[in-house]
Amino acid sequence: MSTLTVELGERSYPIHIESGILKNSSSIKPYLTSGKAVVITNNVVKPLMLDSLLEALEGIDIDVIEIPDGEQHKNLTQFENIITRLLESNASRDTTLIALGGGVIGDLTGFVAASFQRGMPFVQVPTTLLSQVDSSVGGKTAVNHPLGKNMIGAFYQPKVVVIDSASLNTLPDNEFAAGMAEVIKYGIIYDAEFFDWLESNVDALLQKSPEHLNYTIEKCCQIKADIVAQDERENGIRALLNLGHTFGHAIEAEMGYGNWLHGEAVSAGMVLACQTAVKIGWMDESELTRVTQLLTAFSLPVTQPEHMDCATFMKHMQHDKKVKSGKIRFIIPKGIGHAVVTQDIDESMLKDILG
Ligand code: NAD
Ligand code: GLY
Repeated sequence: MSTLTVELGERSYPIHIESGILKNSSSIKPYLTSGKAVVITNNVVKPLMLDSLLEALEGIDIDVIEIPDGEQHKNLTQFENIITRLLESNASRDTTLIALGGGVIGDLTGFVAASFQRGMPFVQVPTTLLSQVDSSVGGKTAVNHPLGKNMIGAFYQPKVVVIDSASLNTLPDNEFAAGMAEVIKYGIIYDAEFFDWLESNVDALLQKSPEHLNYTIEKCCQIKADIVAQDERENGIRALLNLGHTFGHAIEAEMGYGNWLHGEAVSAGMVLACQTAVKIGWMDESELTRVTQLLTAFSLPVTQPEHMDCATFMKHMQHDKKVKSGKIRFIIPKGIGHAVVTQDIDESMLKDILG
C-alpha cells in the first residue's frame, strides 16, 4: 500500500492507494470517529463493491443509503433525501459518512457531511479514475443547481481517501478515458516528465496494468496534494487544475450535462487552451500536436462540437465560477509542464480559435 498525505495542518489526511485495498479493514476502520457509519452509494456501484467494503467494516454499525446513478442526481433533492435518512436513523456528529462511488457520490456525500449538524466526518472511497485522481482529493464538495453546475457547495476535507485501483476493472471504457483527460491535465500543467511517461505507456494504461495504474494514481494524487496544500481555497495555484474547464464547462452546458462526459469536455477544452497558447507564442506547435495525439490515443475528443462557435462559448463562459470582475479567467499552458492563469485573452483571439 502506498500512502500520501494532504498537508493541511490539523485537517491533514492520508490517501491510501493499492489494488484490492477495499477489502483491507485497516484502510478505513481506524479513521472512523465512532462505531457508527453510513455508506452513500448508487445502484451501479453498490452491487459491484458494497460487499467488500462491508466485509472490511465488520463490527461497525452500518447503514447504507443508495441513490440513483447519474450527474442529474447530484442535486438538492438527493441532498435532502440523505439528510432525512440520517435524521431518521439517529445519525449524529460522530457518525462517519462513507462515499462509495465516483465524483457524483463523492461531491454529494461531502456536501452532506459539511452540512449535517454543521459538519460530520467523512471518508472518500472513489471508484472511477476521475474521482481517484481528482475529485476525492482536495475537499471541494457540491451539488448542482438547475442554473449551474456545482453552484452550491463547500470546501470540506475528508478524514481519509482510500483508493482501490482494482475497482477500475469494471469501469466502462468511456469513463476510463474521461479520467485519463484529468490525468493528462496534470502532465500539462505541472509535470513534463509525467507527460513523457504517459506518452510512453499508453498501451499498458489501456490494458489497465495494475502497476501502471497505481503509479498514475499516485503521481496525480501527489500533484493534487501539493497544489491543495499550497492553496486550499483556490486563491492562486489551485486554479491551474481547471485547465480546459472554462471551455469544457461551456461544452457540457451547451450539449446538456451527461451527453458529453466531464472529462471528454475537458479534453476538447484543453486542446482549445493549447491552441490559444500557440497563438500567443507560449507553446510550440509540436507540443500542441503531442497533447492532441496523447488525448486521441485514449479516444478522447480533441475538437469542439461542430455547431459551437465563439458566441455560443461566450454565452456559457460568462456564467463560469472562474469569472472575476466580469473578466473570464483562462488557464493557458506555457509549454508542456507549466501553466498560468490569465484574464488577458481578448474576444478577437478567441474568435480566431473558436470560429
Ligand atoms: P460519476 O460519479 O457519474 O461516475 C461515472 C459512472 O461510472 C457512473 O455511472 C457511476 O455509477 C459509474 N461507476 C463508478 N464506479 C464504477 C466502477 N468501479 N465500475 C463501474 N461503474 C462505475 O462520474 P465521475 O466522472 O466519477 O465524476 C464526475 C463528477 O465529479 C462531476 O459531478 C464533477 O463535477 C465532479 N468533479 C468534482 C471535482 C472535485 O474537485 N470535487 C473534480 C472533478 C470532477
Ligand atoms: N478539480 C479542481 C480542483 O479540485 O480544484
